[in-house]
Amino acid sequence: MASLVTGGAGYIGSHTAVALHETGRDVVVIDNFSNSGPKAVDALRVLTTPDLAFVEADLLDSDAVRRVFRDHDIDEVIHFAACKAVGESVAKPLDYYRNNLGSTIGLVEAMAEYEVSRLVFSSSCTVYGQPDEIPVTEAAPTGAESPYGWTKYMSEQILTDAAAALPLDAVLLRYFNPVGAHPSGTIGEDPNGIPNNLVPFVMQVAIGRMEKVRVFGTDYDTPDGSGVRDYIHVMDLAEAHVAALDALASGLSGAVPINIGTGVGSSVLEVIKAASDAVGAEIPFEVVDRRPGDIAKTWAATDYAAEVLGWRATRDLNEMLRDHWRWQSQNPNGFE
Ligand code: UD1
Repeated sequence: MASLVTGGAGYIGSHTAVALHETGRDVVVIDNFSNSGPKAVDALRVLTTPDLAFVEADLLDSDAVRRVFRDHDIDEVIHFAACKAVGESVAKPLDYYRNNLGSTIGLVEAMAEYEVSRLVFSSSCTVYGQPDEIPVTEAAPTGAESPYGWTKYMSEQILTDAAAALPLDAVLLRYFNPVGAHPSGTIGEDPNGIPNNLVPFVMQVAIGRMEKVRVFGTDYDTPDGSGVRDYIHVMDLAEAHVAALDALASGLSGAVPINIGTGVGSSVLEVIKAASDAVGAEIPFEVVDRRPGDIAKTWAATDYAAEVLGWRATRDLNEMLRDHWRWQSQNPNGFE
C-alpha cells in the first residue's frame, strides 16, 4: 500500500512526503519538475529513504499516470501538482486551465480505473476573495479573481461532482499562506526568479539579493494599515494532509472543504519584524502603493478542521520565520 503525492518535489508536496513517510507509509512521488528539480528529490530522499519512489512525468500524460497506478499499489492520493502564479495565470489563462484542470480530471479518471477512492486536494483561501466576515468559515461564499483562483474553484467543483457520481471521497484543503521550512533546513520553498510572495521576498532581502522589501500599502483598514494574512507553517500544513488522509481512511465521505490556517492574522509589518528577529538584523523596507488585486485582510476559522480532522496548527509566526531563515541561509541559491 502506498500514498501517491503529485507535485511531491515542490514546496508543500515535499514537506508532506516527509510527514507521510514518518507515519510509516510508503510514498510515491510524481512530478514534472516544472517548478522544482532533481535536487529537491535528492534532499527528500535524505529526509525519508534512499528508495523513495519517484516518477518524473506530467499528469497530462495519461499513459504515464496509469503506469504509476499499475506499477505501485496506490491506495490514497494527495494532489498538489499545479501552476500557482497569479500574475502568470492572467497572462496565460489557457495554460492554467489546461494544466490545473486537465491534471485533476486525468488523475481522478486513473483513480477510478484503479479503484482508488481517497483524495486530498490542494485548494486555496483564494476561493474566498475578501470575505465579508473574518475569521472566514468554510460556509462563506466562494469565487475567484484570477484564472489561477478559478482553477482552484473549478477543481473543487469538479471533485464535488465526481464524488457524488463515483466511489470518490475528497478533502479539499483551503490553505491560507504557507511559509517556513523543515527544521533541518534541507528542504524549503525555492521560487523561480523574483518571488511574488511576501516571505520568500523578505528572505531574498535578508540574504542580500534584494535591497529592500516593498510593503504594498499601509492604508488598509487594519491595525497598522498593512495587509493581514493567516500565515501557516508548512510543517503544520503537511501534518494537516496526513490528518485528512487518516480521516478519509476512517470513513469521511463526500467532498469536504476544510480551511487550513492558524486562526491568527499577522500584518506585513509584523512579518518583517518577526523576520528581522529571526535573521538577527533589521530588514529594510519601504512603503509603496497597494498591489492591484490584493485584499486587506483574512484569516481562517479553524474549528471545522479541529472537528473533522482532529488537527490544529501548533507553530507560531516566529517559528515559521526561524525555520524559513534556516533553509534560506543554508541554501542561499535554493536547491541549485
Ligand atoms: C497570494 C495569491 C494567492 C495565493 C497565495 C499563495 C495574489 C493576489 N494572491 O496571496 O492567490 O494563494 O499568494 O501563498 O497574488 N506583500 C508585500 N510586499 C511583497 C509581497 C507581498 O507587502 O513584496 C504583502 C501583500 O500585499 C499581502 C501580504 O504581503 O498583504 C501577503 O502577500 P503574498 O505572500 O503575495 O500572499 P497573498 O497576496 O495573500
